[in-house]
This record gives sequence, C-alpha cells and structure tokens, in this order.
Amino acid sequence: MGLPNESKDRPVSAISLRGLRKSYGDTEVVKGVDLDVPRGEILVLIGPSGCGKTTILRMINRLVEPSSGAVLIDGEDTMAMDPVLLRRRIGYVIQGIGLFPHMKVLENVSMVPRLKGVPKQEALEFAQRALVLVGLPVVEYGPKWPRQLSGGQQQRVGVARALAGDPEIILMDEPFGALDPVSRVGLQDELLDLQGKLGKTIVFVTHDIHEAMKMGNRIAIMREGVLAQVGKPLSLLSAPADDFVSGFVGAGNPLAMFSFMKVMEAPVRTEDLPLVDIGDDMLKAVRSAHDTTLRFCRDRFVYVLENGRLAGTVSVENYREGEGPEYLRDRLQPATSVRTTRTVQEALGSMISSGIANVAVVDEANRFKGVISFGDMYDIVQQQKEKSSEADENLALR
Ligand SMILES: Nc1ncnc2c1ncn2[C@@H]1O[C@H](COP(=O)(O)OP(=O)(O)O)[C@@H](O)[C@H]1O
Ligand SMILES: [Mg+2]
Repeated sequence: MGLPNESKDRPVSAISLRGLRKSYGDTEVVKGVDLDVPRGEILVLIGPSGCGKTTILRMINRLVEPSSGAVLIDGEDTMAMDPVLLRRRIGYVIQGIGLFPHMKVLENVSMVPRLKGVPKQEALEFAQRALVLVGLPVVEYGPKWPRQLSGGQQQRVGVARALAGDPEIILMDEPFGALDPVSRVGLQDELLDLQGKLGKTIVFVTHDIHEAMKMGNRIAIMREGVLAQVGKPLSLLSAPADDFVSGFVGAGNPLAMFSFMKVMEAPVRTEDLPLVDIGDDMLKAVRSAHDTTLRFCRDRFVYVLENGRLAGTVSVENYREGEGPEYLRDRLQPATSVRTTRTVQEALGSMISSGIANVAVVDEANRFKGVISFGDMYDIVQQQKEKSSEADENLALR
C-alpha cells in the first residue's frame, strides 16, 4: 500500500493537501494549498470569512471537486476513491447545526452508521454510544425532536452524528459558531476531553482566534485562498511570518500568550516547595490522616494526593494540634484544579475565582501533575518575550 517511493518507516499523514486549487468561473477561491495533517492531530483552519475554509473542508470529503491538485487520505488519492465510500470514512459537522428536524435525535445519529450499511440494531447501538460520549443519555434524549433541545444540546447531537460511524477523520466547520459563549466553552472542553480518549484526526474550522489557540495542536492561518502560516499556537505568536499573522494572533499583546499556551506547555512546578505557613507537626498529622504521597505545600494549605490522584486540600485553619487523624480526614476540602490540556488563561481564571494564587494541575484521570502559580505567570511572559526577540533576530538574519 502507499506510494511506491514511500519509505516504510515514514508515517503517512492522515490527510495531505497537494497544490490544491478551486475556481468558480474566473474566480480562484483556493489558490494552491499544501498541508499535511498527521494522525491524531487537531488542525485548526482559521481565517477571515470568505477566505476558502469551507471550500477546503468540502474538497477533503469531495463534496466539492478540486479544480487541480490533490487530496490524499492515508497516502491515497481521493480522486481514485468512490466519493460515497470516502465520505463514510469521514465524519462531518457542518456549519450551523444541520440536524434533520423531522427525525428524532436517535434517528439523526444512527442514520450515519445506517448509511454505512450497518444493520439497524447495531447502528442504534453505535448511535447510543456516540450520544453517551457527548453527554446525552439516550433514554432521555434519544426520543426527542431536535427542536426540543437547546442550541448546545443540538450541537452535541451534531458531534455525536459525526462520531457515530467511528470515522478516522472528522471535519468540523465552525461547529460551535452558533452557540452562546458559555455553552461554547463547555463544548470546547468536552471535545478536547473526548479527543484525549479517541485520538481522531480532526480538521476544525473557526474564525475565532481564541478557539483556534485552545483547540489546535497546530493552526493554519488562511488569507484569500492561501495559507499565510502553519504552526503551533506559540510559534505563531513568537514568530509570526508577516504582519497579517501578527495582527491576527495579536502578537503585540504580551497577555495574548495566556490564551494560546496550554497548561502542559507552561512551567508547571513539580518539585516540593518551601513550607511557609505549615509547621512540621501539621505535616506529620496530615500524613498520618491520609494514606498519601503528599508532595505539595502552598501558602496556607497542602495538596493531598491518594495514589497519585488529587484528593483535596487541608488548610492551616483546619488543623488543630492534638486532634487525631479522623479530625483531619473530615476536613479534607475540594481542591481547585486545571487540566493539562486547558489554557494558561483558564488556569489564571480559576486562580482569580478561587482567590488562591495557585492551582493544581491534573491530567484527564485526575492524576496530580504539579502546581502552577500566579507568580509563574510573570516568568511565562518574560520567557516568551525572550523567545520572541530571538525569533526576531533569526528572521533578521535570514
Ligand atoms: N458554489 C460556489 N459558487 C461560487 N462561489 C462560491 C461557491 N462556494 C463558495 N464560493 C465563494 O468562495 C469563497 C470562499 O468561500 P468559503 O470557502 O465558503 O469561505 P469561508 O468558509 O472561509 O468563509 C467565497 O468568496 C464564496 O463566495
Ligand atoms: Mg465557511
């Protein structure tokens, strides 16, 4: 399989665009796009309205035929494939929500595996699983009409429909564009969690730069039918290719990086910290109360871990000398935490809402990864400034 001159060890991209062009009459709307999307990546395609994002998505699943160039899926030219079979390998969440109003939720979702030729009973099971993945229990939501759901719930059904056929690739065209900001953030988080489990290859179109920075492993910035720059969020920020990209990502704003940088890319502290307000006697008491690998002490409380997972905090106020382990166990309080996949901006936001100048970092299984603090934010800005001036020098040297 694959192309004859391809080395066996070289991974084939899930999606490759090669010199892709599209004209309508005399107007060329996609003007030679080359792009590789590795398996398991979320590639965000962003650009002003009318720059050709939807056209590119629709060329990937051949709802639009390219004027020239090629789209390869797993190294294979899509022009050599049956378009119907091709589209069954690719989930598609369209702009707007696009549920069929005359079909109930379960039918809307099971339609996709049905089209793939999956027998009815099995298709219903696929649909059921997909609905659960997006947080809509089938007993409650399956029998509803789309119009009985909120915008956010309808959008979840749209995502479930794209997942129901278990495609390798999912194309999402401004999937959360119609939602209010709160539902939008909720669905972004859910999609990132889901992606952590499923590892699909996703092309995600948006015109919201914050959404792009949050969702994308890499971002492709488009301008009038061409790619202006493709790169990781922070590279775009620290080394924008031109003024258009710089303006688009807000490279001049030192705070912008908070919304671009993932917590896992930030300097999360994993070493023990000095015990400022916490005495040895309290530490000893906490250790005897909790079967824990206690490692972190911040401000006036300690983080308590059970089997590496964040169990909560015990604060100085809750400690009383001479009390037994039971006393402290009863006083374990929920800890504020932020996921590694979230942005530094969200970490900062949760510090501001909790009124505590640091926040625990956990992975999707609530395993404790360290702590990020208010003071670290300053270092992040300084480090990024240095990187960006190095990048400027490199550009000047070219
Ligand atoms: N079927 C069509 N016929 C003629 N022009 C089209 C057609 N589809 C899209 N276009 C034009 O192509 C350009 C890119 O459209 P589109 O890919 O939808 O942009 P985006 O999704 O980035 O907003 C726009 O100028 C649009 O008007
Ligand atoms: Mg569009």
